[in-house]
Formats: sequence, C-alpha cells, structure tokens
Amino acid sequence: MTASDVPPAPTIHMAPPLSPAIRVTLMPKDTNSHGTIFGGVLLSYIDLAGAIATRGYCDRVVTIKMTEVVFHQPVFVGDIVSFYTEVTRIGKTSITVKVVVEAERWRGDRELTKVTEAEIVYVNVDADRKPTPIVRR
Ligand SMILES: CC(C)(COP(=O)(O)OP(=O)(O)OC[C@H]1O[C@@H](n2cnc3c(N)ncnc32)[C@H](O)[C@@H]1OP(=O)(O)O)[C@@H](O)C(=O)NCCC(=O)NCCS
Repeated sequence: MTASDVPPAPTIHMAPPLSPAIRVTLMPKDTNSHGTIFGGVLLSYIDLAGAIATRGYCDRVVTIKMTEVVFHQPVFVGDIVSFYTEVTRIGKTSITVKVVVEAERWRGDRELTKVTEAEIVYVNVDADRKPTPIVRR
C-alpha cells in the first residue's frame, strides 16, 4: 500500500470558533445500567475539555459551575467522542466555556451526532486557591 492508497482522515466536523480539546473512545466500564455511556463519565471529560480551553488565559482554574448540560443523544461503547470548546466570556477572575460533544458512531455509517453540550464557569485561582484576576486576554 502506498501513501496515495490511504484514504483521507475524517475531517473535524465542528466549525470554528469551536476548537477540538479531547477525542476519546469509551469502554464497557464507562456504561450505566442501560448499557450506554454513563453521563457522569461524559461530565468528567466535559470538565477537562473546558479546563483545557482556559489554558490560553489562565494557569490554574477550578470549576465553580456547570450549567445548561443537555444530553441530546446517547453515547455507545466504541463511538469516537470529540469534545469541542469555545471560550464565551472572560470576567475579572472567572471564565466561561461552552463545550459541545460529538460522537462518531462505531456501527453502521459512522454518522456524526451532537450528543451533549454544556456551559462551564471556571475561576482563576492563585496558589492558595483564592480567586485571582485573569491577566492574559
Ligand atoms: C471557586 C472559588 C475559589 C470561588 O471563591 P469565591 O470566594 O466564591 O469567589 P468570588 O465570590 O470572589 O467569585 C469569583 C468569581 O466567581 C464568580 N462566581 C461566584 N459564584 C458564582 C456562581 N454561582 N456562578 C457563576 N460564577 C460565580 C464571580 O462572579 C467571580 O467572577 P468575576 O471575578 O469574573 O466577576 C470557591 O468557590 C471554591 O474554591 N469552590 C470550589 C471549587 C472546586 O473545588 N471545584 C471542583 C474541583 S475543580
């Protein structure tokens, strides 16, 4: 097989200003009692993806609030799950990130489906875990 025989890699689906933060496939250990991916597992990745998005502005953040979490569609074992982010607000010490989660189905035609979205507020903190102004804009 030569390089020209290799089909192109799948394109990133979400358009800017959303940026890819994490891409993962999930395992049977991540399922709930219905056999689909447990929402808490997705929330954990959403929190991580949002925190990665703050890195351009902050060195150390803590999560203060997760809002508007909507699980639109289930995620299945083996799906490739991508977490896209957009910083939507920068306050004095807080920063808000929108996270959109998309699954590429493992079975069938591998369609791309928006499965979850959320908004997360982080606070920039100092070494004593106290709020500190965000200086990088
Ligand atoms: C985050 C924490 C340091 C904030 O302390 P605090 O004394 O409440 O901070 P402040 O009142 O000075 O508010 C800090 C910022 O958070 C924002 N904020 C406070 N409460 C908020 C809420 N309920 N929703 C959204 N933003 C909020 C404030 O508006 C402020 O933002 P701004 O400076 O951009 O205007 C503190 O609440 C904390 O340690 N929480 C636990 C964090 C944690 O353990 N997360 C889970 C693991 S990462």
